[in-house]
Amino acid sequence: MINRDGYTISLWQQHISAFPLGSTLQAHVYDVIIVGGGITGVTTAFLLQEAGFKCLLLEAANLGYGTTGGTTAHLNTLLDVSYETIGKNFGEQVARAVAVASANVIGFIEKMAQEYAIDCGFKTADAYQYAQNKEQDDALASQATAATNAGLDVGRVATLPLPLRCTSAIQVKGQAMFSPLPYLYELAKEFENIGGVILENTRVTNIEHKGKVEVTAGEHTFAGRKLVLATHIPPGINLLHLRCISYRSYAVAARLAQNDYPQDLYYDMEEPFHYIRSQEVDGEQYLIVGGEDHKTGHHENTNLCFRQLEAWVNKHFNVLEVTHRWSSQFYEPVDGLPYIGQLPGEEEDVYVATGFSGNGMIYGTIAALLLRDMLLGVLNELEMIFDPNRLKPIAGFSNFISHNADVAMQYVNKLLPAASLHLLADLAPGEGRVIKYESGKMAVYKDEGGELHSVSPVCTHLKCDVSWNSGEKSWDCPCHGARYNPDGQVLNCPATMALEPLHVAATVK
Ligand code: FES
Repeated sequence: MINRDGYTISLWQQHISAFPLGSTLQAHVYDVIIVGGGITGVTTAFLLQEAGFKCLLLEAANLGYGTTGGTTAHLNTLLDVSYETIGKNFGEQVARAVAVASANVIGFIEKMAQEYAIDCGFKTADAYQYAQNKEQDDALASQATAATNAGLDVGRVATLPLPLRCTSAIQVKGQAMFSPLPYLYELAKEFENIGGVILENTRVTNIEHKGKVEVTAGEHTFAGRKLVLATHIPPGINLLHLRCISYRSYAVAARLAQNDYPQDLYYDMEEPFHYIRSQEVDGEQYLIVGGEDHKTGHHENTNLCFRQLEAWVNKHFNVLEVTHRWSSQFYEPVDGLPYIGQLPGEEEDVYVATGFSGNGMIYGTIAALLLRDMLLGVLNELEMIFDPNRLKPIAGFSNFISHNADVAMQYVNKLLPAASLHLLADLAPGEGRVIKYESGKMAVYKDEGGELHSVSPVCTHLKCDVSWNSGEKSWDCPCHGARYNPDGQVLNCPATMALEPLHVAATVK
C-alpha cells in the first residue's frame, strides 16, 4: 500500500505498492522540470520526454499521493461544470472544443492502455444523469440540450438500468472508467524507460529565475529551462488561489450482496450530486459511490459526511460490506474552466495546470497534451480557452465574491472568543481542536495514546486559521485549501512550510 494525503485509505491506494523507481539524477540542466506526481505531472513528463525534452519529475511524497490516488476515476465527457454553464460563460464554440478535448482524452487513455498493455481495467461505458423532481427535470433538459449542441451523443431514456428512482434521465455514450494508479505507474515506468528522471520525497520549497529556473527542494537545487507546476494548485502565493475554490469530496467502495454491480456511470442532480460506478480490482468487484462535497476546512465533523454517504449507499444498493471510505480534494475554478498555461505573474517559463473541478483524470490529461503542444510551439486552440491569464470578471464574479466573503470571515473569526484550554480535557484520542487562550491560539491533536501534539493554527500560506478534519485527521485551511498532518507537516499545496510547532506545557500556564 502507498501513502496518500490523509488518514483514510482509498480503494486504489490499498491495492498498489511503492513505485519501483528506476532512474538516477543526471548532473545537467533539464529542459523541463515537472513538479507533482499525479496524472497531470506524470502524463506531462511522459509526453515531453517522448517529444525529445530531457525531463525531471519531482514529487513531494510518492506517485499518486494526492488526488490521483483518491479520485473515483470517471472518464466522462459529461463534465461536472455543465456545457450550459460553459456555453454561457465562454460561448458554444468553446463548449464544443471542451467536449471534443474530453472525448479525445478518453481515446488517448484507451490507446495508451492498449499500446503499453496496461492492466488498469479500462472499460468503455455509458453515462446516465437523472432527475428526481420537476425542478431537476427542467435543469436536466436544458443541460441535455447544451450537451447535444456541444456535440455529445445524448439520448433521453424513460428508465435507468439501475433501480434508482427518476422522473427523467439522459444517456450519454462514449464514456469510460479505469483504475488510475496502475495507469499512472505504467506511464511513469515508460517515462523512465525513455530517459526521464523521477525523484520522490522531494518537496519544492523555492523557485528562482537566474537565466533559467532554479528549484530548491530541501538541500538540493535543480535547474531547468522550463518549469511545470502540476501540484493540483500552484505552491506559494498566486492570483489563481483567488480563482480556485478548494473542495473535499467523499467516496466509499462496497461489496454488494448480489453480483448486480452497475456497468455504467451514474450522476444524480442533488446538490452536491452523487456519482456512481463500479470497478474490478485484483479480481474483486466494487461499487464506488462519491458525493457529500463541501469547501475544504468548512466542516470539522467530516466523519458525518462519510456516515451520510454510507447511508445513501445503503438506501440505494443491497450492500454486503463497505470496504473503503476516503476523501479527496479538488479545485473549482470560479468561471467553470481549468487554468492551463503560463502561471500569472511569473516569468514566461513557468507553467501551471489547476482548477479541474471533479474531472481531474480528464482535465489532467488535457493539460498534459496541451502543455506538450505549448512547449513544442504547436498551435492548439485550447491554449487560449484555458489560458490562466484570461479575464472573465463577470462570468466568475459572484463565485469570486462569495468565496472571498468566506475568506474574509475567517479573518474576522480570529478575533472572536474561542474555547479555553481547560476544554482540552474532553478532547478524545484521535481528535484535534483549535483553542484560544489569553493571547494566543493553538491547534492541538490528541493521538491514540493520549499524547498531545500542538502547532500554531495559522496557515503558513496567507495566515488563515486551519480547522480540524476529523475524517482525515488533518488540519485543513478554509481559505485556499492547504492541508497539514496532525504534526503540522504539509499535505497539500499551496502552503510550502509546516505549521509552527508549539508546546502545550511551555506555552500555557
Ligand atoms: Fe491560503 Fe491557508 S491556504 S491561507
